[in-house]
Amino acid sequence: MDPKPPLRSLTGIKPTGMPHLGNYLGMIRPAIQLTEDCEAFYFIADLHALTTQHDRQALKEHTIQVAATWLALGLDPTRTLLFRQSDVPEVTELCWYLSCVTPLGLLQRAHAFKDAVAKGREITSGTFFYPVLMAADILAYDSDVVPVGKDQKQHVEMTRDMAIAFNFHFGDTLKVPEPRIGEEVATIPGLDGEKMSKSRGNAIPLFLDPKSLKKLVLSIRTDSTPLEAPKDPESCTVFNLFRLLASPEATAELAERYRLGGFGYGHAKLALFDLLEQHFAEARDRFRRHMDHPADVEDVLDAGGRRAREVAVRTVSRVRDAVGL
Ligand code: ADP
Ligand code: TRP
Repeated sequence: MDPKPPLRSLTGIKPTGMPHLGNYLGMIRPAIQLTEDCEAFYFIADLHALTTQHDRQALKEHTIQVAATWLALGLDPTRTLLFRQSDVPEVTELCWYLSCVTPLGLLQRAHAFKDAVAKGREITSGTFFYPVLMAADILAYDSDVVPVGKDQKQHVEMTRDMAIAFNFHFGDTLKVPEPRIGEEVATIPGLDGEKMSKSRGNAIPLFLDPKSLKKLVLSIRTDSTPLEAPKDPESCTVFNLFRLLASPEATAELAERYRLGGFGYGHAKLALFDLLEQHFAEARDRFRRHMDHPADVEDVLDAGGRRAREVAVRTVSRVRDAVGL
């Protein structure tokens, strides 16, 4: 009997700024772990970034930054495909076929769209259409699992709905994927305790120089419990970030110090700073080396794009056949 082929893991991240700790813990770290036994397709979602970013130079810079981040954090491009979304035009073609089986109401229920409406933002049709393009990304490569943070789970569920609708109309053609979210790290808090996000200005970017990192960590919002008093670790952002990177023993020890009192938030912040330095100092050096050689990073993306495209061409030709083109 043939051995079972490995599962295929796929995810994307928009090149809209320097990736942060929330991206790392919520998505990048689990996605890199999945490469150990999955075939991985990881891409820079530059077409999605265009819904909010209209500065061509920034788009180019952030694309290299995000790719350099993946490489610095240990993604092996000889085993994993790392590529630009826009290098695979079949995805935008598939997006059209999916739109023809996607009820308008499904897109109107998208959290991101509803939030934008609630905030009275001017909404482009690209923003409204965002989930269809994301579904095309996932379905073009016959993905099995999609590692994403909790905020993206609905998009993966919508992808499943679109694949099921397509298969209903045209016969079994598209593989229905699963979201993959580590529940204990579902949403990473930022400096203000709210969801860490580039757009909220509460992020801890990866690979900051030690001085800026320390300043940022010291600015994490905490309550006004005095130094001497016992503190509740569970409700503290500093502790909640610490526990996601530390060993169980170090986590238990820090929790104990909180509960005993006589230990201030300043001490906890310094412990978090040290841990971040330990965790990311070497990756920061690798990141800088990649940033000094952007042409090499471009080569990795070009090569990944060519291989990813071969897969998408096959899927789209199957889809064309299924719809009768
Ligand atoms: P941002 O919200 O900062 O713009 P992105 O939308 O580019 O981040 O997210 C890229 C990936 O990182 C997604 O899978 C998303 O779910 C995950 N992610 C982003 N912020 C967080 C967070 N605070 N906690 C957990 N995962 C996150
Ligand atoms: N929408 C995702 C985000 O904002 C990025 C993304 C685009 C993506 N296409 C995808 C994630 C496909 C997973 C699979 O983070």
